[in-house]
Amino acid sequence: MTQQYRITLLPGDGIGPEIMAVTVEVLQAIAPRFDLQFEFTEALIGGSAIDQTGKPLPEETLTTCRASDAVLLAAIGGYKWDKLPRHQRPETGLLGLRSGLELFANLRPATILPQLVEASTLKREVVEGVDIMVVRELTGGIYFGQPKGLFSSETGEQRGVNTMAYTRSEIDRIVKVGFETAKKRRGQLCSVDKANVLDVSQLWRDRAIALATDYPEVTLSHLYVDNAAMQLVRAPKQFDTIVTGNLFGDILSDAAAMLTGSIGMLPSASLGEPGKPGVFEPVHGSAPDIAGQDKANPMAQVLSAAMMLRYALDQPAAATALETAVTTVLDQGYRTGDIWSDGMTAVGCKGMGEALLKALG
Ligand code: IPM
Ligand code: MG
Repeated sequence: MTQQYRITLLPGDGIGPEIMAVTVEVLQAIAPRFDLQFEFTEALIGGSAIDQTGKPLPEETLTTCRASDAVLLAAIGGYKWDKLPRHQRPETGLLGLRSGLELFANLRPATILPQLVEASTLKREVVEGVDIMVVRELTGGIYFGQPKGLFSSETGEQRGVNTMAYTRSEIDRIVKVGFETAKKRRGQLCSVDKANVLDVSQLWRDRAIALATDYPEVTLSHLYVDNAAMQLVRAPKQFDTIVTGNLFGDILSDAAAMLTGSIGMLPSASLGEPGKPGVFEPVHGSAPDIAGQDKANPMAQVLSAAMMLRYALDQPAAATALETAVTTVLDQGYRTGDIWSDGMTAVGCKGMGEALLKALG
């Protein structure tokens, strides 16, 4: 029987619409083979939503997302909206989507594909075989803590404030995702904090240690975030699964992404409680500098669709088909600018889409 899925598409800004267009074509192409039917509904977010409605996350977008089986998001933001008051910025729309759908767990895999070892700025022996999963807390910490804002100090000086805060239950639910993820991988969980300085991190570390007794099959280690950043570029193969807070995860996931050669290759999944729709999106941003020029790499978006098929729709065979198409076109030598190296065939976003469709047969 044909499985039907309602997917909300949020193409957003910059290169978003280009990479989304490729991904939708690819999903349509595989649907009949796996007896799937997708009902796509497009909604507004980010700068394009500001331009059309005055708001970065119109209420209608949240309603549409909540009523769907999964959300596929491309990217938001651009120079044009950078000077607006914060509540009207594209980034506020993205944060609103995360909190509105209670997507507290962000899974960001950084896996180096053998075909792209040369595209990494690090030495082959350092990056070959890297396979890391960063589990980032996504709806708490300094991104959302109160108080926050611009205030005036006692001397009348301007003062900017954000608060890094986590409750015990917020820590527990994300650290559990970390343990569960590590359990399905190589059984090593590294919890990253700044417990030598921050009280919020001390609670984080204490909870990680307390929860470890429920996961005897997982080896738990701890690193301070500064050391973790250093270790990621020094000897990344020591990492299996990393679990960390919102801000540290934001920073470390970009660093981990670059080990693989290009952030243009990496997907992510943002998940809430089981049964609620997750959001699947590339780790990279909207790249306004190359938007509309047919230069973007659509692979991270296509791989995000694969994560959606695997994690949200329970269609692992269809997910594998997309992942295999990606490695096939890389084997055939097709490269967008971000991953191009000598002797490879340079293609644009559309050309890469065509190559993917051909690989899918
Ligand atoms: C990310 C991005 C976002 C974040 C921005 C665009 C708000 O950097 O998804 O990593 O900081 O979370
Ligand atoms: Mg980021």
